[in-house]
Amino acid sequence: MPKFSRNYLCTVIVACLLASSRVHAAPPLSLSPSPCSTSSSPNATPTVPYASNDPNYPLWNPDSNIVPQPMRGTFGANILGPQNIPLELENPSLLAPPTTDHGDVPNAHWSFSLSHTRLQTGGWARQQTVKDMPIAKQLAGVNMRLEAGAIRELHWHKTAEWAYVLNGSTQITTVTPEGQNYVATVHPGDLWYFPPGQPHSLQATADRPEGSEFLLIFDNGAASEDDTFLLTDWLAHIPKGVLAKNFQTKHSAFNQIPDRQLYIFPGNPPADDAQPPVSPQGISSLPFTYEFSKTTPANYSGGTVKIADSTTFKAAKSIAVAEVTVEPGAIRELHWHPIQDEWTFFIEGYARMTLFAADSNARTFDYQAGDIAYVPAPYGHYVENVGNTTLRFLEIFKTDRYQDVSLSQWLALTPPELVKETLQVSDETVNKFQKEKQLVVGPQ
Ligand SMILES: *[C@@H]1O[C@H](CO)[C@@H](O)[C@H](O)[C@H]1NC(C)=O
Ligand SMILES: *[C@@H]1O[C@H](CO)[C@@H](O)[C@H](O)[C@H]1NC(C)=O
Ligand SMILES: *[C@@H]1O[C@H](CO)[C@@H](O)[C@H](O)[C@H]1NC(C)=O
Repeated sequence: MPKFSRNYLCTVIVACLLASSRVHAAPPLSLSPSPCSTSSSPNATPTVPYASNDPNYPLWNPDSNIVPQPMRGTFGANILGPQNIPLELENPSLLAPPTTDHGDVPNAHWSFSLSHTRLQTGGWARQQTVKDMPIAKQLAGVNMRLEAGAIRELHWHKTAEWAYVLNGSTQITTVTPEGQNYVATVHPGDLWYFPPGQPHSLQATADRPEGSEFLLIFDNGAASEDDTFLLTDWLAHIPKGVLAKNFQTKHSAFNQIPDRQLYIFPGNPPADDAQPPVSPQGISSLPFTYEFSKTTPANYSGGTVKIADSTTFKAAKSIAVAEVTVEPGAIRELHWHPIQDEWTFFIEGYARMTLFAADSNARTFDYQAGDIAYVPAPYGHYVENVGNTTLRFLEIFKTDRYQDVSLSQWLALTPPELVKETLQVSDETVNKFQKEKQLVVGPQ
């Protein structure tokens, strides 16, 4: 890579010149003791000032009883104009960012609380698409609620559908293109998956008197829940004579079909152990649901992680998940995902994340239950529990295999001299880097 080397040398030389011309004016601690080595073998002392030692802790949290201000240390000044205090209490990292934030990173924070809600008899739905958060190109999310017995009607769509049950239980039905069928009841923390174009329905059982609620994910950021192919909508737009011909009936057989889509409507709660009609093609050999809630998480020093991708949930060919808990004071370690964007959903607790977007661009965001984050591949990031309670969230990816790269593991498995020369750290620090992924570390 001769080009890189030349550029690098130029940078070093310019930095050295700058440093030597300024070395006396600069505060003594902001430069290395010998910014320019003149020795012939390049000495990897820093050619630039050291990074600030400011720990950059969050300055408040959503429960703080203060009027938050855009002030950190000697920077900033108080607000004289109007102020949305609840929003600013929720977002300390936007109003008083850590000094490590720099440059431009697209917005990576949405909340279902900001989404338009589609109210129906029997339930509701609210969604986040790329229109709400332009960075979120690969995945879109829907939060849906069905009262006991209520039905999200028979339909299909262009994208795959993946779901995580948040509360109550939901009965799903589907039929494959080969004519195999499948019916199952899915409980909190469990998953379902329908391949693109495969017809299906969702119905809340009466396991809980309130019915159920779940999170739906589509593997396309532009997919809208309002843009699906509904059975009622289709039949309302087919001449009745064609219906009669198709089903070999009188057209009066369809006297009472709805004249428009139902989408969500009330129904009688199904039995938990409902079975599909006997299919000559059989029941699908591939289960479209997965008892994720019953899998054992891997335990780490700061929390837990469990993963479901196509290696365990075989039907889920295009969407994978990691469910993560982080205890107070702990952190989902610094990492990135090599080729997949991450759509993150916060279920409980308070989190802070910094998205590093290369070229000095970094921005920190705060999240709480009901919020969505989006981290494009391969942005570096962490998820810090900044609250007093367990933080729990889902990392969701458009992929058949979960993958990440751990900063600690990368550094531990790289020749230590190289790491030490780059970061100017001691052997003691290098020994802290872990050769096996820690995923969730701390608290200290
Ligand atoms: C479901 O919702 C009910 C009512 O809000 C709540 O008491 C219960 O803890 C929730 N269950 C889960 C699994 O979140
Ligand atoms: C998980 O790890 C923590 C910390 O290492 C430990 O205290 C706890 O007992 C472990 N739990 C299980 C179920 O192994
Ligand atoms: C955590 O607890 C402390 C002490 O009670 C409190 O000051 C702080 O606001 C709490 N943090 C959050 C995120 O609730």
